[in-house]
Amino acid sequence: MATPAVPSPAGPRGAVGPGEGLPAVFVTRPIPDAARARLERSAQVDVFDGADAPTPAELVSRCRGVVGLLASSADRVDGALLDACPQIAVVSNLAVGYDNVDVPAMTRRKVPVGNTPGVLTDATADLAFALLLATARRVVEARDAVLAGRWKSWDPGFMLGMELSGSTLGILGAGRIGRAVARRALGFGMRVVAWSRSARAPLGPGLEAVELVGFDELLETSDVVSVHVALAPSTVHLVGARELALMKRSAILVNTARGAVVDQAALVEALRTGSIGGAGLDVTEVEPIPLDDPLLSLANCVVLPHIGSATTVTRVAMAELAVDNLLAGLSGEVLPACVNPEVYGTAR
Ligand code: 8YV
Repeated sequence: MATPAVPSPAGPRGAVGPGEGLPAVFVTRPIPDAARARLERSAQVDVFDGADAPTPAELVSRCRGVVGLLASSADRVDGALLDACPQIAVVSNLAVGYDNVDVPAMTRRKVPVGNTPGVLTDATADLAFALLLATARRVVEARDAVLAGRWKSWDPGFMLGMELSGSTLGILGAGRIGRAVARRALGFGMRVVAWSRSARAPLGPGLEAVELVGFDELLETSDVVSVHVALAPSTVHLVGARELALMKRSAILVNTARGAVVDQAALVEALRTGSIGGAGLDVTEVEPIPLDDPLLSLANCVVLPHIGSATTVTRVAMAELAVDNLLAGLSGEVLPACVNPEVYGTAR
């Protein structure tokens, strides 16, 4: 197996003090204490504590001299960063998605990239279901109506929504999170169909009732379409004007994957014109979403601030796995969750 050359930690920043003699790492967002403490036992740890993620220039400047980078999906990790900081020997992404990392550029330089699969599946599936329920039952609109004094009497026609039981959920992408959402939907009495380029039926224990269907058929027949594909060149704007036009006028779109999988301008148009019924989004094409974005003025759209994995338990588990990946990379071992294992195929 390839062994990364771990350079001296005393990089341009000339760090001294606790951890001196240990490899230097940069962590772009604060992580839970236990994971940080474990990392500090084996590395000189520089944690970015700005209110926002580091800018690209801050990322380069803080990465000078470090051998390990623990990044989040808000950080662009690409060939230019490695050109500026060629001593980086391992990148650990605090996310299951890694569209923020130019993996081919890392692989060319034999830099292993880690991610955090599995540990955030249930938290993200729960949040997808929260958005599904909030949108189908107009929870945010109803709360706004209470606060605005529009709850005048009990009115049998007030805030009518979609009944989940008996409705059809279409899962776009049948990976871990998509399947976890399917399990929840079956528990709510929904019929579930799924589209996947690679999965084969049955999708797993308890999912025998989930039917794999064609892409257009899923869009045409689902009452709720939930997006669970990774962002890749082939999935940018996978759901665009054509796809939205195929959906039922009453249908709801839920996206907890990545904003760019949905063409947001086309979505605004579909929501405005009533070509679909509503949308629940945890992710948007630009994050944070600008306050003047038209999506925020639409009553039939619920936008959340990318909180799919935001439970205490899950964030602790993500940080532990991200630290496992980073420490493995620092000591030249295979990362427990590596997205480019081909880096271990050839000598460095
Ligand atoms: C992360 C996510 O918390 O894991 C992912 O892919 O989208 C979230 O769970 C977020 O991307 C920060 O890295």
